Amino acid sequence: MKLKLKVWRQKNRKEKGKLETYSLDNVSEHMSFLEMMDVLNEQLINDGVEPVAFDHDCREGICGMCSMYINGQPHGPDRGVTTCQLHMRKFNDGDTIYIEPFRAKGFPIVKDLVVDRGAFDRIQRAGGFISVNTSGNTQDANLTPVPKKDADKAFDAATCIGCGACVASCKNASAMLFVSAKVSQYSLLPQGKVEAKRRVLNMVEQMDKEGFGNCTNTGACHVECPKEISLENIARMNREFLKASITSEK
Ligand code: SF4
Ligand code: FES
Repeated sequence: MKLKLKVWRQKNRKEKGKLETYSLDNVSEHMSFLEMMDVLNEQLINDGVEPVAFDHDCREGICGMCSMYINGQPHGPDRGVTTCQLHMRKFNDGDTIYIEPFRAKGFPIVKDLVVDRGAFDRIQRAGGFISVNTSGNTQDANLTPVPKKDADKAFDAATCIGCGACVASCKNASAMLFVSAKVSQYSLLPQGKVEAKRRVLNMVEQMDKEGFGNCTNTGACHVECPKEISLENIARMNREFLKASITSEK
C-alpha cells in the first residue's frame, strides 16, 4: 500500500517542532507499525535526511516504550495493543497517517516522537515497591495465603507497562490510572499491606509534583490503555489515600 505520513519533527526540547510530510510506497499490510517506521527511516537515510527518533525496545507489548499518537490516538486505532503490536492492515492504501509524540506537561518532548517519561520512574521510586528481608531469613512467599480473587486483581494491575497512554489520552493529563495500578498491585496483597499507607501518600504526592492533572472520571485512559487496566484501580487508590490521610502519622 502507499501511504502519506505526517510526522512530528522536533530537534530538541527547546526548538519548535512541526509536521513534515513523507510518502511511502510498498508498505506491506503484514508489517507492524514500527516496521513501517523502520522502512521510513531507511528511506530518509538514503535521501540524506535525519531519521525520525522514536522509542522502542521489546517490540512485543511488554516494555511500554513505543508510545506515540497515531491519528490522534495513543498507540493508534486498535484496542488493547501497543504501537509495536499494531499492524498496517488496520490502515488502507492511500491513507494519510498523523504521527505525533505524547503531549503532556509531565512528558516533555526530547526529540521527534521521543518524550521523557522519567516522571513515572520518580513516582515508582516514591513507593512502588515492598521492603523484603534479604538477610538470609527470607520467608517463602507461598507461606502467605492470598485469596484467588485478590491475586487475580493484583496481577491485572501489575500488567501496566508504564507506557503513558492513559496520560496522553486524558484531557487533564492525569496519571491516576498508572499510579492506581501501581498502588493496587501491592495493596491487594498481604505483602504490600505493611507499607500501604506510606506508599499511597508518597506516590500521590510525587504524582502531583510532576504536574499531572486530576481525574474527572472521563474514562478515556481505560479505553486507550493497551493493557485495559480497570478504572476500579482509581477508586481503590482514592479509598486507600483517604484512609491513609486520616490515619497515617506521616
Ligand atoms: S495504565 Fe495502561 S495506559 Fe497507563 S501506563 Fe499503564 S499500561 Fe500504559
Ligand atoms: S516496543 Fe515494547 S511495548 Fe512496544
